[in-house]
Amino acid sequence: MRLEGKKALITGAGTGIGRATAVLFAQEGADVIATDLDPSQAEDTVGRLKTTGRRGVALAADLSRPHEVRAMIDKAVDAFGGIDILVNNAGVAKVPASTLELEDWEAWDRVMAVNVRATFQCSQLAARWMKSHDGGKIVNVASQTGIAGVPYINAYGPSKAAVINMTRSLAVEWAKYKINVNCVAPCWTRTRRLDDAIRAGWTSLEEIEKRCPMKRPAEPEEVARAIAFLASDDAGFITGVTLPVDGGWLAYGYQTV
Ligand SMILES: NC(=O)c1ccc[n+]([C@@H]2O[C@H](COP(=O)([O-])OP(=O)(O)OC[C@H]3O[C@@H](n4cnc5c(N)ncnc54)[C@H](O)[C@@H]3O)[C@@H](O)[C@H]2O)c1
Repeated sequence: MRLEGKKALITGAGTGIGRATAVLFAQEGADVIATDLDPSQAEDTVGRLKTTGRRGVALAADLSRPHEVRAMIDKAVDAFGGIDILVNNAGVAKVPASTLELEDWEAWDRVMAVNVRATFQCSQLAARWMKSHDGGKIVNVASQTGIAGVPYINAYGPSKAAVINMTRSLAVEWAKYKINVNCVAPCWTRTRRLDDAIRAGWTSLEEIEKRCPMKRPAEPEEVARAIAFLASDDAGFITGVTLPVDGGWLAYGYQTV
């Protein structure tokens, strides 16, 4: 097992990619702190870890509130005695307004607070513990929209680009503390977020089939496997990278010949 005996904290673990990561981490031997805005969803995830025999703890926190982030990390350290692996997975999607009409700056700020500031703050607080305990692994969850330009995306794409850049800066700065900082960049993934986007008419399975060389969205478990690799010692000499998990989406220039 690749994560035997590790203590892992996963944000946004109440659903989708975060939940799949929590389950896989426990199967790989980690004890898991599953945190989410929604406490019942986090509890549900922890319930799914029982068959693995690993320990699971559910914590609720609103990551847009710095004092809740701090309390969450303190509780996580109390629960298991530390954090060897942090997965910054929680995220808020795009602000629902066209770029030329957008006036809802609170919604813009919320995307930036959850996706960017909380990723930084969780990393900072976990790294303080890791620095004095022989290092650790941090894996951020960005998006292919943080790499490619995507229309109508407002705050979301820029927030994920910030996460990708932050991954590099923190990786370089914290390499001396044996803290690896890496990132995954999924394309559309089959979670409730994709269901919502299809319902709102922003995308469709037909559009994804046309655009993605592998002709489908990612499964949450496929993203979780990339996260587990970057969180494991198999990726011990890898830091500062962003790994697309996108079925070839970013490789494809979308030109017809
Ligand atoms: N699903 C996709 O197509 C897709 C594609 C690329 C990247 N991503 C990224 O993957 C990550 C997971 O996305 P998903 O689709 O699995 O789930 P999701 O988008 O449905 O939600 C992620 C989780 O974050 C939690 N969350 C939201 N705001 C929070 C807050 N203020 N405090 C604490 N938790 C909060 C939610 O409760 C939820 O459990 C996100 O960062 C998302 O941006 C998703």
